Amino acid sequence: MGSPIRVVVTGAAGQIAYSLLYQIAKGDVFGADQPLILHLLDIPPMMGVLGGVVMEIMDCALPLVREVIPTADPAVAFKDVEAAFLVGAMPRKEGMERKDLLSANVKIFKVQGEALDKYAKKTVKVLVVGNPANTNALICSKYAPSIPRENFTAMTRLDQNRGCSQIADRLKVPVGQVKNVIIWGNHSATQVPDANSATVDLGSGHVPVVEALKNDEWLKGEFITTVQKRGAAVIAARKMSSAMSAAKAAGDHMHDIWHGTPPGSFVSMGVISDGSYGAPNDVIFSFPVTIANKEWKIVQGLDIPSHAKPLLEATGKELLEEKTEALAVCEH
Ligand code: NAI
Repeated sequence: MGSPIRVVVTGAAGQIAYSLLYQIAKGDVFGADQPLILHLLDIPPMMGVLGGVVMEIMDCALPLVREVIPTADPAVAFKDVEAAFLVGAMPRKEGMERKDLLSANVKIFKVQGEALDKYAKKTVKVLVVGNPANTNALICSKYAPSIPRENFTAMTRLDQNRGCSQIADRLKVPVGQVKNVIIWGNHSATQVPDANSATVDLGSGHVPVVEALKNDEWLKGEFITTVQKRGAAVIAARKMSSAMSAAKAAGDHMHDIWHGTPPGSFVSMGVISDGSYGAPNDVIFSFPVTIANKEWKIVQGLDIPSHAKPLLEATGKELLEEKTEALAVCEH
């Protein structure tokens, strides 16, 4: 076993963290032989609840956990961390649009960007989960200028996982047999789920999902809207936002940053845009990426189906609008 790494989870007393911490602590994310020092950040009124979470982590008796540091102080939370899960934010309530959340949440990510800049390792890998995730990641990176912009990513993995599951369900195959579903753009209702490059293993190797589904119109319509609106559907049913599945996706995302993507597979995440596929520059846009040595690369040369092109434009436009609003809030 190597020496422990420091990992911070913000919003550590919240719903997503409650599932995420267990996955991290038992080795699902950084590896079964990677000891951990867990830094748990939440706000002062939540310190009592956080104390309960710390007790439970202890009671799980997980051998990889070497220390747990609960705190409300970003200086302590971000000190020397190598990986950061920025989950803490105000969650979206039923009927609330993401834009309503923007001004409240963007300020949190400004402060945390500044703290990462001051206290974290320069190699820290930052995953932003708290919404609006893409724009929060952009702001966080802007206020952490000493850390490479490529180290900041936003989570669209839940949308990708939802897309894979919808297709697996349609084809009646286990979800592990579906891969390379893409989520383009913003983690919002304008996101573009795209199965055009996705493949499915039907027993004798991978074939395009489009072929397996015989060019089903479902892929251009209901598939897209089901994935786009799944978050709202879960809120309507549970009266709380998706927590278990969001935590699983956050673990998957960081796992792939740490360990890389397998040959022939790619995953979607919000990364700083270089204008690939006509996306606007300098926003955090979800692209298909491959990962090696903890560095991502946007997959180039994929075909974007014609029905998706105007949708890509719309999600890019939304990200530019969010960026303008967020910068106005931060510079106020
Ligand atoms: P929650 O309300 O259960 O937990 C949020 C926690 O963050 C609370 O304990 C709160 O006290 C804490 N918090 C608030 N401000 C903070 C700050 N400045 N520093 C540290 N902690 C702070 O919410 P839940 O369900 O865990 O969701 C967290 C976020 O994740 C929300 O913004 C939600 O919209 C987002 N989300 C993102 C998804 C994605 O796919 N990117 C999917 C699902 C949720």
